[in-house]
Amino acid sequence: MAEFALPKNSKVGTGKTYPAPAGAKRVKAFKIYRWNPDDGQNPRTDTYEIDLDACGPMVLDALIKIKNEVDTTLTFRRSCREGICGSCAMNIDGKNTLACLKAIDEIKGDAKVSPLPHMEVVKDLVPDLNQIYAQYRMVEPWLKSDSPPPPDRERRQSVEERAKLDGLWECILCFCCSTSCPSYWWNGDRYLGPAVLLQAYRWLADSRDEHTGQRLDQLDDPFRLYRCHTIMNCTNTCPKGLNPAKAIGEIKQMMVARR
Ligand code: SF4
Ligand code: SF4
Ligand code: FES
Repeated sequence: MAEFALPKNSKVGTGKTYPAPAGAKRVKAFKIYRWNPDDGQNPRTDTYEIDLDACGPMVLDALIKIKNEVDTTLTFRRSCREGICGSCAMNIDGKNTLACLKAIDEIKGDAKVSPLPHMEVVKDLVPDLNQIYAQYRMVEPWLKSDSPPPPDRERRQSVEERAKLDGLWECILCFCCSTSCPSYWWNGDRYLGPAVLLQAYRWLADSRDEHTGQRLDQLDDPFRLYRCHTIMNCTNTCPKGLNPAKAIGEIKQMMVARR
């Protein structure tokens, strides 16, 4: 994993304030976490006062406006701006969510924006996802079957079998859930966390997959699976309304059933 060490005695300091343009009537302050690995400075919080009458309705609209019109150095990820790619996951107003789905009007007072918690920071609002993607790779998130495909090359499922994947396939790998999970905060190097475990269950639940036993063997470990203590932060925060805690419970039941 790449190292992005914060400066010693690192504290989040008070940074610059960028005032709203003269004459702005509906002003909202965005207090945004800033950290640049190259300047040797501690992290700081910069304040950007935005004229909401000249800004789109979502937090991502405000971030794009700031980057385009106020401070080009502000760094964040985004792509689809409609809750599909998972890139704009961050902590807004104390909760992990997607900036493109979070309406500015829902935030009372100043809008506080920081990176997903308990992750190494690459720069500003960009967390380092190398470790979590390595964990995702470990669960081999693709169909594994040894039998040859039928002549028409489609592996069919019944309607009921397909329905078992609902609530799983919709996951966009934003990692809001894993970075809200206390068990993942403390044991993220060994516990796979709710996002990756939901993905693992997506393949365990797939009637076409023929490697169920091998997949369960790989998860049958005191840390990889069993660090989940059903605290439910994951389900509470998922911006897609999914239930990773339930998926983890299903994996645990599969473990019991095969003993
Ligand atoms: S239910 Fe499990 S995975 Fe979800 S937040 Fe709690 S400990 Fe983490
Ligand atoms: S389960 Fe929800 S919060 Fe977790 S990665 Fe998938 S979409 Fe994001
Ligand atoms: S920009 Fe794609 S989910 Fe927000």
